[in-house]
Amino acid sequence: MSSYLQLSGLDLVEGENAIVRDVTLELAARRTLILGPNGAGKSTLLRLIHGLLRPTGGTVRWPQPLRQAMVFQRPVMLRTTVFKNVIYGLKLAGVKDGERERRAAAALERVGLAHLGARPARVLSGGEQQRVALARAWALEPQVLFLDEPTASLDPASNREVERIIGEFAAAGTRILMTTHNLGQARRLADEIIYIDDGRVLEQAPAAAFFQQPRNARAAAFIREELL
Ligand SMILES: Nc1ncnc2c1ncn2[C@@H]1O[C@H](COP(=O)(O)OP(=O)(O)OP(=O)(O)O)[C@@H](O)[C@H]1O
Ligand SMILES: [Mg+2]
Repeated sequence: MSSYLQLSGLDLVEGENAIVRDVTLELAARRTLILGPNGAGKSTLLRLIHGLLRPTGGTVRWPQPLRQAMVFQRPVMLRTTVFKNVIYGLKLAGVKDGERERRAAAALERVGLAHLGARPARVLSGGEQQRVALARAWALEPQVLFLDEPTASLDPASNREVERIIGEFAAAGTRILMTTHNLGQARRLADEIIYIDDGRVLEQAPAAAFFQQPRNARAAAFIREELL
């Protein structure tokens, strides 16, 4: 499999603090989950890759430019309707009038929120807002979707729904690059695992192999603790 993304010697140093250290990776899997404990550097790595942060060293190389979208742990809703929240992202992306409405309606349908299009987005529950954020991403037709712990503050039912939608992205051919510290979620969603701690990649492995027998001792300890 040829890689869609190549990271080489990526560093992010803030003052005395090395947050991401010498990360060299090739990504090719459909669904890659970045796993690791709190403070490992997962969110920072994702932001570097998506271009929201500039590395202090190393390179992020896309062999072919790919359309990207990102969903965060806490969705940011504009003070307007659900429908216009989705439209706004399309406007920014330069999608033309008419096409915007069509795509926004289809995206809301996809996440099961077509009936809430006229509702002010900020009155929605956390789970519903996260689905609006996913609709916003869906409408952009990304080739790569970044998700930073998208279910961390959701209840089990909303969590399931968000995981279902992520599965639909993958089924539509979108590459998924997602962080989590939830082992169950990583097992359900991942084709490949990247385990990071203390800013470093400690292991990159196919998901089945990783969960059966991680090669790295700290990754193994993380799995054991989570299973207790
Ligand atoms: N701009 C910054 N300046 C200094 N330190 C930072 C900065 N951004 C992040 N950090 C630190 O870098 C480390 C990694 O943070 P990051 O948010 O990437 O971790 P994470 O793996 O996403 O954690 P969590 O699971 O809690 O979301 C943390 O110790 C954090 O405090
Ligand atoms: Mg994080």
